[in-house]
Amino acid sequence: MLIGSAAILAGLVGVWWYAMRRQPRAYDEQTEARVAHRWILWGGIALPASGIVLLLAFGIPMGHRMLPLPHDEPGALHVEVTGHQWWWEVDYPEFGVVTANQLVLPAETPVHVAVTSADVIHSFWVPSLAGKVDMIPGHTNRVRLYAHEPGIYRGQCAEFCGAQHARMILWVDVLSPTDFEAWRAARQVAPSPDDDPHAMAAFRSHCADCHRIAGISGGGRGPDLSDLGTRRFLGAGTLALNPGATRRWLREHQTLKAGNAMPAHVDVPPELLDRVGDWLETVRP
Ligand code: CUA
Repeated sequence: MLIGSAAILAGLVGVWWYAMRRQPRAYDEQTEARVAHRWILWGGIALPASGIVLLLAFGIPMGHRMLPLPHDEPGALHVEVTGHQWWWEVDYPEFGVVTANQLVLPAETPVHVAVTSADVIHSFWVPSLAGKVDMIPGHTNRVRLYAHEPGIYRGQCAEFCGAQHARMILWVDVLSPTDFEAWRAARQVAPSPDDDPHAMAAFRSHCADCHRIAGISGGGRGPDLSDLGTRRFLGAGTLALNPGATRRWLREHQTLKAGNAMPAHVDVPPELLDRVGDWLETVRP
């Protein structure tokens, strides 16, 4: 886009320069009318018409590939993504798997993504895979993704949705079909985190009402944590999930991502909070 727009700008400046330096010519009235007509015919009708036809010839097939059509495309994977202030809920209804802030997909497979929002308008955007799609409360929009090869693709909320709009990043992990099958199969069993009764009890009393961990808590308000230990980031791209990062997140999340819906846990002794953080990092399928 930069190269294209720079070329157009240079061309326009060239034409402008030529027009400014050109000696004005005197025309009789008849020629003047002919020149004016020529401008309307070529500049006002022929040029935009051919431009639009070219753009449509390119854009219509492109748009069709992005639409989840037909709805019963064989072999398509269905994913539901819900925007929240400020995180992503990712649901694979076909497998009963729920995760957050990461979208794991198989390569070479059409993926139909149904997007909506739980609060304000967000926008689902993975630039390498498809255009932007608005996520609107009470309404479902659809987009079709098709990744040709495995890799990590960055997604970003593309509609201003509040103070932490910039920290609403979605990591898209495209796996080979075999690796994706292994990922899916691993999530069919409940995670078995380290046996730390203190951390588990603290999680149950302070976190479980909002956060689900399959087999441990029901949650329902905040991000699902069932595979937290396998994620790349915390807080929708705020903090890399290196060992010990969850401790820092639990202590400082209102500084790292001010205004997020999780209360600052000032009522929990810091040592216990650290223990919960370490324990959460062992929550993995
Ligand atoms: Cu969600 Cu911006």
